[in-house]
Order: sequence, then structure tokens, then C-alpha cells
Amino acid sequence: MFVTVLAEDAARVQGRLEAALADRAALPLIEAMRYAVRGGKGLRGFLVMEGARLHGLDPARALPAAAAAEALHAYSLVHDDLPAMDDDDLRRGQPTVHVRWGEATAILAGDALQSLAFELLTDPVLGAAEVRLALVAGLARAVGAEGMVLGQALDMAAGAAAAPLGLDEITRLQQAKTGALIGWSAEAGALIAGTDPAPLAAFARALGLAFQIADDILDVTGDAAKAGKRLQKDAAAGKATFVSLLGLEGAHARAKALVEEAEAALAPYGAAADTLRHCARFVIAREM
Ligand code: IPE
Ligand code: IPE
Ligand code: MG
Ligand code: MG
Ligand code: MG
Repeated sequence: MFVTVLAEDAARVQGRLEAALADRAALPLIEAMRYAVRGGKGLRGFLVMEGARLHGLDPARALPAAAAAEALHAYSLVHDDLPAMDDDDLRRGQPTVHVRWGEATAILAGDALQSLAFELLTDPVLGAAEVRLALVAGLARAVGAEGMVLGQALDMAAGAAAAPLGLDEITRLQQAKTGALIGWSAEAGALIAGTDPAPLAAFARALGLAFQIADDILDVTGDAAKAGKRLQKDAAAGKATFVSLLGLEGAHARAKALVEEAEAALAPYGAAADTLRHCARFVIAREM
């Protein structure tokens, strides 16, 4: 079952993050960081681990990169939930970090999780210095002002814009906001193995968009108890989503087409990529 693989990888990645945060001072900052990396689905970490397995590598060789992806993602959620951004009080079924520790600690915990992600990528287990440098450079590009942070900025701007965004603009926004980190996660295994990441990049482009469309659909139709976060917020905040543009049915159809596209991109790997195919189907069927 795909969810079993996902949970096993998530537990391993969690263990690597706990190890990275062990033996640190007993500060609210560190407590907040530990709290923030717990309880997620672990999709990005899984993608790193599976990318390694796909290339015949022992996934232990990719573990620091998987932990980096999840630390970076956790930082993005802590900041995304802040009052200045989405102003959310619930995440992964628990109070958000700023609700528990205050805004200053939440901002700093996010900052430090981001630094931790890059520190993890210097772990020699990942390979030669050139490999680690490529991972660092790729992650920096994926999550900075041309990637995730750009996407978050466009997301915030769209809420205040006079005219609704068109399909191309929403696609660009989502690709940056969610797609870029998913892309890096999917490609990391190929970088570690020293092979061409292009087919995984194509897979992740479709997967990342499908993932964000599913998140937008969940916001409208999901069950908050299962999702572990407040829902029905995007429309009220004037967010530009695939649902706001295409309607629920249109968004469902687009997500389904993207999953087919993601599966097709895996053709060069044959049956070895079956777990990634399951992952693509899971991404739009999930309730959390
Ligand atoms: C939620 O991501 C934020 C988005 C990018 C849409 P996930 O749905 O992967 O959140 P967790 O990590 O499982 O909590
Ligand atoms: C969050 O997107 C994206 C990032 C954190 C980069 P959302 O704002 O849609 O995520 P949720 O719905 O709060 O999980
Ligand atoms: Mg947001
Ligand atoms: Mg949010
Ligand atoms: Mg959302």
C-alpha cells in the first residue's frame, strides 16, 4: 500500500530531523522547531527517498536530503500560518506555532528550519562535494524569490488584486508556491545518483500542480478534522485558486488530467516507477 510506504519514510525522515535537533539547548525556539517538523504526511521526504530507490540507491544515502525537504516545508508552513499571511490557528491537528509560542518564536523557528535544511545538505553521506553543491543550489533556487517565496508573494498579492488571475497566472503562481519544492524533492535522487533528472522533473511539474489543485479542492469540500487545518478560507481571503477559476468540477478534471500526465512522464523508468505512480493517484484522492 502506498500509504504504508509514505508513513515508513515519514518516520525515518522524522528520526533524522529529531537527531539533528537533539543535544540543543532547551529553548522555546528548539521546542517550536521540533513541534513544527512533526505530524505531516511527509510527501516531499518520500519523493526524495523514492527517487533514490528508483535509481537503485540505498535510501539511507538520500535521508539528509529528505529531511532537508521536510524541514524547509515545515518552515514554509510556520510562516504561511502567521497572522501577516494566512492567519491560521490550526495545523496538522494542533495549534499553530505562533499560537503556542508567539509570533517572534514562530518567525525565528521558521528561519532556523530553513538554515537547518541547507546544513543537512552538507552531510557527506549524500555524496561528493559537487553533488551536495548541486543539491544546495537547486534547493536555493526552488524556494527563493524565483520559487516558493515568489509563489507566496504572488498568492498574497492575488488576494488584494482588483481583477481575478487567469489560468496561466494561477498556474505560474502554484508552480512557484508548491511545485518548485516538490520538483526539487523529486529530482534529488537523480542528482545523488548522477543521472539525468529530466523525466522526474516532468513528473513533478504535473504532480505539484495536481497536489495544489487537490489542496484547493480540499479547502472547499474537505473535512477539517481529517485535514487537520481550517478549511473554507481561500474564497473569503480572495485567493486565486484553480477552484475559484475553473469551479469544482473543472478543477477535479484538471487534477485528473495532470495525474495522467505525471504517470506518462514516468514511462522511461518502466515498472520501477510504480510507487511514484501510486503517489500521483494518492495526491488527488487524499482527504488530508
Ligand atoms: C500543505 O502541504 C501546504 C501546501 C503546499 C498546499 P501538505 O499537504 O504536504 O502538508 P503536510 O506536510 O502533510 O502537513
Ligand atoms: C501554502 O499554501 C504553500 C506554502 C507554504 C509554500 P496554502 O496556504 O494553500 O497551504 P495550507 O492550505 O495553509 O496548508
Ligand atoms: Mg497560503
Ligand atoms: Mg495557508
Ligand atoms: Mg491551501
